[in-house]
Amino acid sequence: MNKKYRKTIIAGNWKMNLLPSDVKSFTEELRTLLPKAKTCEVALLVPYTHISALRRAMKDNRISVGAQDVSVHDKGAYTGEISADMLADLGASYVIVGHSECRQYHGDSDFTVGAKAAAVLEKGMSPIICVGESLEQRERGLTMEYITYQVLAALSFVPEGKERSIVIAYEPIWAIGTGKTATKEEAQEVCEGIRDVVREKFGARVARSVSILYGGSMNPKNAAELLSMPDIDGGLIGGASLKPHDFAQIIDAVAQVTGEEQK
Ligand code: PGA
Repeated sequence: MNKKYRKTIIAGNWKMNLLPSDVKSFTEELRTLLPKAKTCEVALLVPYTHISALRRAMKDNRISVGAQDVSVHDKGAYTGEISADMLADLGASYVIVGHSECRQYHGDSDFTVGAKAAAVLEKGMSPIICVGESLEQRERGLTMEYITYQVLAALSFVPEGKERSIVIAYEPIWAIGTGKTATKEEAQEVCEGIRDVVREKFGARVARSVSILYGGSMNPKNAAELLSMPDIDGGLIGGASLKPHDFAQIIDAVAQVTGEEQK
């Protein structure tokens, strides 16, 4: 399917790493490494405590800023939680919802993930909805069945008119932080399947404009081949986003792939 209808997004997920005081030197270094021409949308999804510093460092909007989670609630007596309104007020554009680590450690259900996606959309930001199968599910041949269920559950919460603002990230759990990457064929097969689910739910126009990212040990060595696949529109990158040089090389891979496609 033609990629021209959607954004290529390279998003770094810092998880619980680096300090707010590291943001300045990180972004200064990254800036010197970024390609001159903008070939894709670059985003950094950082701990809540780092968002303001990152926004200040990126006043020119060369890099979009985002968070890694959000409350399902609007406001009120929810000690320790952060609302979508607060993130929008800080200038966040993206919020990860349903990362497998949040599903595992915070007990986020498909229902919670959908409600978080809706909260993010209501405040004019884009949720990066993460889905992915376990190794056991893959080995039992249940990958697409499970992913379809996760995607449909989240999509059922998307408010009317906001369908094009969603981003979906396919992150096989067995590939996250393990150095084990899905092959480009495996990743493409699932990303294509996700697009089919979006098409069935929202129609062809929405399906062709929704960016679907791959995440799970993406690095400078494997980025180009993954990004060259027709239904992979970018990456959600953990470990390799913590080093400006590696992250910049993944961003460079987009230009490389786009250049080859235009030949
Ligand atoms: P990883 O993490 O690149 O370190 O595997 C990806 C993610 O969890 O988003």
